[in-house]
Amino acid sequence: MAILRTERLTKVFEVGVRLKKVTAVRDVTLSVDEGEIFGFVGPNGAGKTTTIKMLMGLIFPTSGQAFIFDAPIPSRASKARIGYLPEHPAWYEFLTGAEAMDLFAKLSGVPSAERRRRCDDLLGLVGLSDAAGRQIRKYSKGMQQRLGIAQALAGDPAFVILDEPMSGLDPVGRKEVRDLIHELKRRGKTVFFSTHILPDVESLCDRVGVIVGGTLRDVGRIGDLLSPEVKSVEVTAAARDGARQALAGGRVLAEEGERVTVSFADAAEADRAVRALVAAGGELVALTRHRETLEDFFVRRLGEAAVPEPRAG
Ligand SMILES: Nc1ncnc2c1ncn2[C@@H]1O[C@H](COP(=O)(O)OP(=O)(O)O)[C@@H](O)[C@H]1O
Ligand SMILES: [Mg+2]
Repeated sequence: MAILRTERLTKVFEVGVRLKKVTAVRDVTLSVDEGEIFGFVGPNGAGKTTTIKMLMGLIFPTSGQAFIFDAPIPSRASKARIGYLPEHPAWYEFLTGAEAMDLFAKLSGVPSAERRRRCDDLLGLVGLSDAAGRQIRKYSKGMQQRLGIAQALAGDPAFVILDEPMSGLDPVGRKEVRDLIHELKRRGKTVFFSTHILPDVESLCDRVGVIVGGTLRDVGRIGDLLSPEVKSVEVTAAARDGARQALAGGRVLAEEGERVTVSFADAAEADRAVRALVAAGGELVALTRHRETLEDFFVRRLGEAAVPEPRAG
């Protein structure tokens, strides 16, 4: 079942005294299924936050529509079942983590009898139990981000929308957030999150939507989006003289004594070279086929986006 459906969702801003029209989001149509982790991926300024703000009812679409739990946005009824982490959460920094959680749980309508346990559980889930009594202004960026995720979960939502949950975090902090998102899925929640950080997406998402310049360029499973072709082949060999010559067509990446690592852009050429190497008495140590990564894919799609598109209205 689709938890979220958007149909040609569009937002045009009018900026400056001349009300110049800026199309931040154009005709975005996508759906997110129950239990999925969906990554909304695109460079800065792509239209991710604008889309999410429309879903949250913070700004109104210029045209198009969206449904969450089959209710058209903005819907009070569905909002109660959504958890939301804004891109730049604003905290009452003088509150402790525990106090802030209690406040958010109260705002989410959690009955007072349950509140304490719910907050303790969530602070535990995000690894902030020990810091619960500390003021938020003393939290690191990563701790604030994890508190933000705990806050989004205060009302025990079925659907969680996170705007750039990994931005501004170091690799350890990003890994913690990734693990947390996995845990949400394990608990049966549906997660829609935006990011411009590609390595965070590959291991995490069931599906991704790639948005560039306000237009959704691709939606699908990462494995289906990436080209299955081998992009390059890395060959490590122990070889001398004639055998070494067999690898002459590759680009040398490393060389140490007899041992050499070369890269071939063409898989067939790599195969030929390896056969010649072995025939000449060389030893094949390792062979690695590199396929397209999401990063490569992104660069490819961004390159295509740079070609000016006809723009109506
Ligand atoms: N309130 C606004 N008024 C005018 N332009 C805006 C406004 N909000 C966003 N934009 C523009 O819309 C585009 C998309 O922005 P945004 O949705 O924040 O992108 P992302 O979250 O992907 O980085 C950008 O060009 C941005 O400058
Ligand atoms: Mg944004």
